Amino acid sequence: MKAWGDLPGDDPERDRAETEAAIEAAGIDLDPAVPASHRHDDEAHRADHAHPHEHSEVGQPPIIGIVGAGAVGTALGVALTRAGWPIHAVASRDAGRRERFRALVDVTRVFADPEPILDEVELIILAVPDDVIGPLVATLRMYSGQAMIHTSGALGAEVLAPAMAAGTQIGAFHPLVAFADTERAVAALHGATVAIEGDDQLVVMLADMAEAIGATPVRLAPGSKAAYHAAAVLAAGGFVALLDAIAELGRVAGLDESGSLAIYGPLIEGTLENARALGIRAALTGPVTRGDVGTLESHLAALRAHAPDVLDLYVAAARREVILAEARGVLAPEDSWKMRAVLGAALQPLSEPVP
Ligand SMILES: NC(=O)c1ccc[n+]([C@@H]2O[C@H](COP(=O)([O-])OP(=O)(O)OC[C@H]3O[C@@H](n4cnc5c(N)ncnc54)[C@H](OP(=O)(O)O)[C@@H]3O)[C@@H](O)[C@H]2O)c1
Repeated sequence: MKAWGDLPGDDPERDRAETEAAIEAAGIDLDPAVPASHRHDDEAHRADHAHPHEHSEVGQPPIIGIVGAGAVGTALGVALTRAGWPIHAVASRDAGRRERFRALVDVTRVFADPEPILDEVELIILAVPDDVIGPLVATLRMYSGQAMIHTSGALGAEVLAPAMAAGTQIGAFHPLVAFADTERAVAALHGATVAIEGDDQLVVMLADMAEAIGATPVRLAPGSKAAYHAAAVLAAGGFVALLDAIAELGRVAGLDESGSLAIYGPLIEGTLENARALGIRAALTGPVTRGDVGTLESHLAALRAHAPDVLDLYVAAARREVILAEARGVLAPEDSWKMRAVLGAALQPLSEPVP
């Protein structure tokens, strides 16, 4: 209970100090920096002076902050830390992901928002979904001496340009790894390729960073990134779609998923080994290489009857096989023509069922 001497108005200085303490305890900034400036403790500065406040030692890794504690941000955080490239700060809006990151990575600062990271690091890694990068970058502004990169395979570094200021650099760091599980991804980074972008100075640092985590840095030819990434998507997600189609046909034959993987897995591995040893064209086997139109037609009939969802994928692959077999010179022209006709007809919309 308050004594008389504690009543408001009795000591205005003390009352104001108490009120300010209560407001600050509620997280309200009583002395916000004016726009286009920021504070170092009590001193206000214009935003365009050199940052960050801390600098890494010459020859040491930069001070790193990661925005996004999802699959890529977390695995990169783990891999870089283990490689002696510590993570100073992370931003994730999700409390659970922040805690998971903190549990896996010895990170100094953890934020809910990306903006505070900009005040503390030299290299900002944006590991957020492709569609988020543009809108997020529009809300950020870098300081002189900083670099910002993203990890997207689909987008070029130029998407980061709105965050640039005088003396800043932008780039990209795209690991060719399927980040399904943190530890598996960290292991897979060893020996993986990382496509890097940026000006010459930044690219040297990104190449060192890739090599530190055991990966091989590559610089892509200008304008080729979308095709490079489409191939990666076919090799990962596209291959999983193919596996799923194989498993669906396996179910028709009475196999469960692990049965299909056990039976068709060695065939897949053998085909990959053949392609590595002989080249892709020479690795092609199957009815298309023999001009076996009857077998092709029986497969299409079975798919229509038992697995119609697999039909489009089978036909798309078979059309590509015909092109390969033609290029290899193993198909008689009339067989080639018949196969193209059968496969073309298979893609026609099916007629309405007779009531
Ligand atoms: N997954 C892969 O196999 C793979 C491989 C190579 C490259 N990449 C690329 O790496 C990037 C990240 O992919 P990912 O698979 O790690 O995605 P993810 O697992 O979905 O994680 C994305 C992270 O970004 C945060 N985020 C989402 N929206 C945000 C917003 N509006 N503002 C701030 N943060 C936001 C997420 O939410 P919270 O803030 O709520 O935590 C999450 O922490 C993408 O560009 C992707 O193309 C992915």
